[in-house]
Amino acid sequence: MRTKVAIIGGGPSGLLLSLLLHQAGIDNVVLERKTREVVLGRVRAGVLEEGVVALIGAAGASDLLRKHALRHDGTVIYDGTSAFRIDFAGISGQSVFVYGQQDLTRDLYDRHAEIGGQIIFNAENLAIHDAKSDSPFVTWTSEAQGAMQLRADFVAGCDGFHGVSRRTIPDTVRHEYEKVLPAAWLGVLSQTSPVHHELIYAASARGFALCSMRHHNLSRYYIQCVATDLAEDWSDEAFWSELKRRIPGEFAAKLVTGPSIEKSVVPLRAFVCEPMQWGRLFLCGDAAHIVPPTGAKGLNAAAADVADLSMALCQFYASGEQSGLEGYSATALARAWKIVRFSLWFTGLLHRFPGQSPFDLNLQRADLAQLRDHAAMQKIMSDSYVGFVR
Ligand code: APR
Ligand code: PHB
Repeated sequence: MRTKVAIIGGGPSGLLLSLLLHQAGIDNVVLERKTREVVLGRVRAGVLEEGVVALIGAAGASDLLRKHALRHDGTVIYDGTSAFRIDFAGISGQSVFVYGQQDLTRDLYDRHAEIGGQIIFNAENLAIHDAKSDSPFVTWTSEAQGAMQLRADFVAGCDGFHGVSRRTIPDTVRHEYEKVLPAAWLGVLSQTSPVHHELIYAASARGFALCSMRHHNLSRYYIQCVATDLAEDWSDEAFWSELKRRIPGEFAAKLVTGPSIEKSVVPLRAFVCEPMQWGRLFLCGDAAHIVPPTGAKGLNAAAADVADLSMALCQFYASGEQSGLEGYSATALARAWKIVRFSLWFTGLLHRFPGQSPFDLNLQRADLAQLRDHAAMQKIMSDSYVGFVR
């Protein structure tokens, strides 16, 4: 088999890249280790930047998103005593869109099927070869067909944190940076109406809480928990009761509770791999960087990489121009570090961590007061929240 771009991983990054390349008439094949059902079953965050919505539109997959996504012009921040609002639309002239990543992935898959895109599931033992040559190739095994091989001009590593692409870059070239925070989030999905029409980020003395949503009858709530907690350690009752104690009283009073339909623990950590290119191998999304979930930047950061890489590949195939491909890693890493900075800052602002001294807590309070009181601080926060994809 031969194609122009071999895309490793059929998550949101891989599918979006595949669709964008397809729009430009660039042949590509997606190789996914799991089944379609497993990929579509993953529950992740749900906030999309305006620039990402536009990108999904360019990929031809935004019909349902434009119909059902909830536009959010601002968000509520609770400092433990009082709540204030950040007006994204007023401050940054942009909004964000709440739409579950699960729904987005389904839309990308449906569009991919519609255009006859090629995706191979259950691709096991995948390996990337000769990435430093002009003719890289990918091998894998499939239960039905045995040993397989795909030759390509380029390989896009969109295979998430646990994929093989990043590890194909030799240890002598690759630098990995990681920060693991001593806390996690416990997330619950419930078929209840959201407590408020905007998200509420709560920095309570008992730890962080977040009130989010998917649509008018599907809520997503999170509370900070201990990093070693398991989802099954938490009964629904314990979850709701803790959530109520962490959010402003007026919202706790009207919170509608119900059985959880999904419950999971999300770790809080940041990770960056440098470089994001090695020869003809290019990394996108979670394969190269992870951010803590506060601010919901993971998918948006991945989409930003995909936007850059698809543009660079289009430029290359249209005119032979290589500058976009050559600059890809430096551009994507500069942005990734800014997104890591924002996500860690926003996390640090709102969480309680073991070992924080009274000094640390006073500093955190001052930080929150600065965000509440200073337009310049709100501008930085709002611009970061609404987007790194322009
Ligand atoms: N071979 C083929 N596919 C693989 C391999 C492999 N060796 N390893 C992993 N994969 C697949 C996974 O099964 C998964 O479907 O690659 C896909 C990677 O998808 P994600 O982990 O979702 O990563 P990405 O597409 O970059 O999505 C960006 O944004 O909100 C965040 O973390 C969240 O998934 C989200 C991410
Ligand atoms: C979510 O709805 O899952 C979500 C929203 C905002 C965040 C993180 C997660 O900052």
